[in-house]
Amino acid sequence: MPNPRVPRVAFGVTILSGIGLLVVYGTGGQPQLEGLLWFYALAGLGVGIIVGANNYLPNEESEEERHPLASSEEMLAAARADFHRADGGDEALDAERRSLLRLLAGAFAAIGVAVVFPIRSLGPHPSDDLRETDFAKGVRLVTVDGAPVKSGQLGVGELLTVFPEGHTRAGDSPTLLIRYDEEEFLPAGGRASWVTDGMVAYSKICTHAACAVGLYQNVTGLLLCPCHQSTFDVNNACTPTFGPATRPLPQLPIAIDSEGFVVAQSDYPEPVGPGYWDRMNNV
Ligand code: FES
Repeated sequence: MPNPRVPRVAFGVTILSGIGLLVVYGTGGQPQLEGLLWFYALAGLGVGIIVGANNYLPNEESEEERHPLASSEEMLAAARADFHRADGGDEALDAERRSLLRLLAGAFAAIGVAVVFPIRSLGPHPSDDLRETDFAKGVRLVTVDGAPVKSGQLGVGELLTVFPEGHTRAGDSPTLLIRYDEEEFLPAGGRASWVTDGMVAYSKICTHAACAVGLYQNVTGLLLCPCHQSTFDVNNACTPTFGPATRPLPQLPIAIDSEGFVVAQSDYPEPVGPGYWDRMNNV
């Protein structure tokens, strides 16, 4: 009877390495150790399969003469006899084979779980974070220093980078507040009430690849993204007029509160920034 020790040990190494990988992932991960465990897991699997196959599968080469396709009664009887012979009727060998197959299944299971486990490394589900910012109805627009912006603070052609009050470090919220030229500005359909006191607010995050759109030519009313030169027309709903961006900069509806400060009417009605895999169809 073939010695089953090598494939048994090999599959055992794979199982233990798979369990080790789970423990390492679960305790925060360690790349070198994970690499070593993957090596042992796959090497054990390979050695176990190769040696096990050599031990338990027939090795002799045989050939037979071409014969009629239908088996004769004698051939069927011989095949049945072969099937039941089980290498001389060695039940111990059968038991070894079954045991080895169970170990092989365990080795595959351990590796399968270890492969699935790194999904945890993708981090928390973003939920609605990609669709929402900290702007909301009545939230004041403030400068990076936290100072609220007053009505009339900007002259024609001037702009300020603003944030929702209390969230000046929020990466999805930088917004350009621009005092536009009333003779040039064309409010987009349905957005006449989104501007106030000669000011309009657009997201500062480029819709191409999320760079900060910070270069403003007040003579032409164009905003330029320095990364790949996308250009947006401030006087025309910030639609892109040049470059790789295909979506206008989202507009934030703004108003003036009872104390004369600029506030948001709501959050952005659409996600800010570039497209992502499940961007809603209507934006
Ligand atoms: S990120 Fe603005 S043009 Fe590419």
